[in-house]
Amino acid sequence: MCGIIGYVGKKQALPVLMEGLTNMEYRGYDSAGVCVSKEGLIRVRAQGNIGKLKEQLAQHNLQGTSGIGHTRWATHGIPDEGNAHPHLDCHGSVAIVHNGIIENYQELREELKAAGHTFDSQTDSEVLAHLIEVECEHGSGLTAIHRALKRVRGTYGLLVMMKDLPQTLFVARMGSPLVIGVGSQEHYVASDPSAILPYTRDMIFLDDGELAAVSVEGVGLMNLDQTPVNKQVERFMWEVEAAKKNGQAHFMLKEILEQPHVIENSTRGRIDLIGTRAVLGGLSEVQDRLQEIDRLIIVGCGSAYYAGLVGEYLFEELAGMPVEVELASEFRYRKPIISTRTAVLAISQSGETADTLEAIREAKRKHALTLGLVNVVGSSVARETDAGVYNHAGPEVGVASTKAFLSQLTILTLMSVYLGQLRGTLSERAAGEVLAALYEIPDQVETILHNRASIRDIALTYQDMTNCLFLGRKYQAPIAYESALKMKEVSYVHAEGYSCGEMKHGPIALIDKSFPSVVLCPEDSVFEKTRSSMEELRARGGKIIAVTTNPDLVSHLCEDMIVVPQTLECLQPLLTVIPMQLLAYEMALARNLDPDRPRNLAKSVTVE
Ligand code: AGP
Repeated sequence: MCGIIGYVGKKQALPVLMEGLTNMEYRGYDSAGVCVSKEGLIRVRAQGNIGKLKEQLAQHNLQGTSGIGHTRWATHGIPDEGNAHPHLDCHGSVAIVHNGIIENYQELREELKAAGHTFDSQTDSEVLAHLIEVECEHGSGLTAIHRALKRVRGTYGLLVMMKDLPQTLFVARMGSPLVIGVGSQEHYVASDPSAILPYTRDMIFLDDGELAAVSVEGVGLMNLDQTPVNKQVERFMWEVEAAKKNGQAHFMLKEILEQPHVIENSTRGRIDLIGTRAVLGGLSEVQDRLQEIDRLIIVGCGSAYYAGLVGEYLFEELAGMPVEVELASEFRYRKPIISTRTAVLAISQSGETADTLEAIREAKRKHALTLGLVNVVGSSVARETDAGVYNHAGPEVGVASTKAFLSQLTILTLMSVYLGQLRGTLSERAAGEVLAALYEIPDQVETILHNRASIRDIALTYQDMTNCLFLGRKYQAPIAYESALKMKEVSYVHAEGYSCGEMKHGPIALIDKSFPSVVLCPEDSVFEKTRSSMEELRARGGKIIAVTTNPDLVSHLCEDMIVVPQTLECLQPLLTVIPMQLLAYEMALARNLDPDRPRNLAKSVTVE
């Protein structure tokens, strides 16, 4: 996923573009570029991160009160300056920045080449600049863009400048997010609200199939069949600082440390005053349909999928609901059996993951009740589902999901209680017990975070390991999978998450003294069986890092131990995952890696 920024108004554009690109580097950072309009379209690009672009810009004196910018996560064409956006047509009349994939770009490219166009990149995006220039012969501005986009198959968050219309930006959205920031005599465009928050909180979120002309005077919206569109200006409340690091070394650490507040924010206003009912306003309008639901399918990718696996236990235990959890990237290619009494819940931090969006669209085609559990307000999953619940976790900038994952578990707990009470499968007393224990979680998380130094010591002890296993059972199995993903993502150690019960079906063949295991072994309903798994590991010389709630039970079975507070079994994942996030983070530092910029990854995968 790429970062897009645009400005038109009374200020110099370049500082606005550069601040916006810096705020969006997590969306992709293998190359970047800007273009301003001053007696023509002036473009500067650079391979590498935004700092490289700043070095290039020092050799130019870019002036102009309108401009566009882009930070790239390559999909077509290697990450180099020639493939960096903005892209121009052959005559320098049109400049574009694009987020998405043009599926029919090859045929369009051949057609344009045959008509005499020359290309200077291998990207799919560049065809858009040439197509729009061609269509400018039949009408300028949105008319040309509209005609060009009629030729295009694929996804785009598109921002266009035209040499002959220097004080107007043109935007179009299909499958990739775009938001317009409304200022006084100035407007902003971005793929991500936090890029323009330093300037305005008043935002217009575009939906798929919408185009707009954005100028100093105002915003003119229409859709792909050229009918005018009226949209509300929304007040976006995140603080810019919330997207900064709060003084921590990395976004990942900042976001791990703010998790006590995240749980508070995720539950705020969602538990009634006497503490025995979950109150989820986002589900109220589908409450009647929810009572008719006889099956829940949860879809997601990566950490969101693992959160769904915890949700499966929660919905079964607290709501008595039959649940399946599916990888969105697989679900969308199956022929899932869905009825109007099926609910499909999409979990997605960004709300823009292509596979998860397609899974939801498949569910809608089959008339399921579609629900979203999303962090980014106004994102595609939020807008394309019938109802849902926002995380209220604040912007998650670190590529490795931490606070959003914890918020997902929190909201899934609330949703399970809500559904259990709606269906009459959860007594008020039982609901009160869960909600009271949930109320204690932020303080319990805080105590674990104070234990960071001992987790750093463990990371230093094992910093040279090349492989490790993460093991858990029942509620702890999804945390084992998630913990392994965290370790892989930021430290590049080959880590595998396994259900304890699966050990004897193969993985135990890997175990020797050079292959450590992290075992999530809180005192819960399956502890005895987990302890047996630990004894099997020991018998083969395997070293163990134990994550426990009762040291006396496991101290003789492990080399290293991390103690977490005891809570209800169904809430224990909220606590055992915290030291796993810290262990991955500290391992990355021990191995001199940047946990905020893991190689080959971007924060949200909006391409398939
Ligand atoms: C998790 O640390 C990864 N960043 C990745 O697996 C992520 O969870 C996945 O891409 C889903 O993203 P989403 O929640 O924004 O849909």
